[in-house]
Amino acid sequence: SRVRHYKFNVVLRNSTKLCSSKPIVTVNGQFPGPTLYAREDDTVLVKVTNHVKYNVSIHWHGIRQLRTGWADGPAYITQCPIRPGQSYVYNFTITGQRGTLLWHAHILWLRATVHGALIVLPKRGVPYPFPAPHKEVPVVLAEWWKSDTEAVINQALKSGLAPNVSDAHTINGHPGPVPNCSSQGGFTLPVENGKTYLLRIINAALNEELFFKIAGHILTIVEVDATYVKPFKTDTIVIAPGQTTNALVTANQNSGKYMLSASPFMDSPIAVDNLTATATLHYTGTLATTPTTLTSPPPQNATQVANSFINSLKALNSKKFPAKVPLKIDHNLLFTVGLGINSCPSCKAANGSRVVASVNNVTFVMPTTALLQAHFFNKSGVFTTDFPGNPPTAFNFSGGLPANASLATTRGTKLYRLAYNSTVQLVLQDTGTIAPENHPVHLHGFNFFSVGRGIGNYNPKTDPKKFNLVDPVERNTANVPTGGWVAIRFIADNPGVWFMHCHLEVHTTWGLKMAFLVDNGKGPNQSLLPPPKDLPKC
Ligand code: C2O
Repeated sequence: SRVRHYKFNVVLRNSTKLCSSKPIVTVNGQFPGPTLYAREDDTVLVKVTNHVKYNVSIHWHGIRQLRTGWADGPAYITQCPIRPGQSYVYNFTITGQRGTLLWHAHILWLRATVHGALIVLPKRGVPYPFPAPHKEVPVVLAEWWKSDTEAVINQALKSGLAPNVSDAHTINGHPGPVPNCSSQGGFTLPVENGKTYLLRIINAALNEELFFKIAGHILTIVEVDATYVKPFKTDTIVIAPGQTTNALVTANQNSGKYMLSASPFMDSPIAVDNLTATATLHYTGTLATTPTTLTSPPPQNATQVANSFINSLKALNSKKFPAKVPLKIDHNLLFTVGLGINSCPSCKAANGSRVVASVNNVTFVMPTTALLQAHFFNKSGVFTTDFPGNPPTAFNFSGGLPANASLATTRGTKLYRLAYNSTVQLVLQDTGTIAPENHPVHLHGFNFFSVGRGIGNYNPKTDPKKFNLVDPVERNTANVPTGGWVAIRFIADNPGVWFMHCHLEVHTTWGLKMAFLVDNGKGPNQSLLPPPKDLPKC
């Protein structure tokens, strides 16, 4: 293992897309940002210096941060933000993990342009559990707004209504050809006939789950969220914001240009977006300038396509990589996740109400100082540990919708407390007074096993009998289906404060978030380490 040093300078850069220009916040002037490479067991030091007018923090999404919550990154959860002109060194060791992850800003909506690939290679000399590819290519999917994204969300919060959807999706920074703007080509992936490539696909979009496919080529899925899966073949993947997927693709079509597409998956009745980003897979030696073989992206409400992909994911569960699913459960939790409406006298456009989101009917209130510091230094009055382990009884849902549609949420900075090494089963149930919707729920600090998933209401009597406790996929971001549920299991073996939230940024902003507090253990190496000296102050 070795120590890797990176410098991330957060700077403004002017960027032109869709024939329109605006300044964007970037790392080192790049969009997407620089790819961070490390190997399993390496220690990574990233010095982040803030040269913009916004407060900044960076999250290493999916890195477990064992005992180093100080380096996790969500603003006001594990650290105060890095203020303009200041810097902070994120210092963490990558233990027992390898694969594709992402890093991204974890404050405001800066993630829109402040994100990049985080690639953890196996230890030197350790092979992949699949045939070695000829080349590896990060494929970062994102969204693009012509207007300033901070203005987009601030306007929405003021009005009480939903924010504008993006103007385009992007593949490695490019939307591909779009109507009424001829000047821009898309991303090109050069391939040689007969060779196999490993695509490290990352969804860094703010608000969209995406379908991804390549015309004329089959993808072999080998890993998701930096955990190996049983390889399977598919022509379409579905990937939620925060998720990653490694796919092998063999260039077996001799020649030509084939379209890659990233298109939205939204099967909520309020879905509004149908933009598709395109790129080109290009056999070297081929002359044509635009793809000659096109994809047919699934319709945006193609629930079946998404489910068949998600249901095909199984942990590799080999001798080397066993699926260690907790079988005995200490905390049996059921959290509703969903959208609702609260009163807002100043929200004229929304008739005196505003969209809110909640977990177990609690709309999370961001503190003004970091929860992890308050916890470590025993500062009272910042949070409470009375987060409900089950929905309030008044919150009676049927068919994914609460019976009492006018029910307002309560507000608070509530945490759910877990003893060190206790085991958790958590059912995430979609509800919503507005409409049921997908919720890619991300848990910081842990990987979890996705042991069950279904449509409608979770039934605590019958559904657990159908759980997969043998080879469930292991991830860091769950796919809660529209009007359905997901059951996950994990071991609370990482002391600290760990954020959990919907990775659709608009839902997080509205309050679909909470945090777990995991106590120190009693043994050696079972405590949260002390904070680094340069930890930013609020
Ligand atoms: Cu990738 Cu809390 O986020």
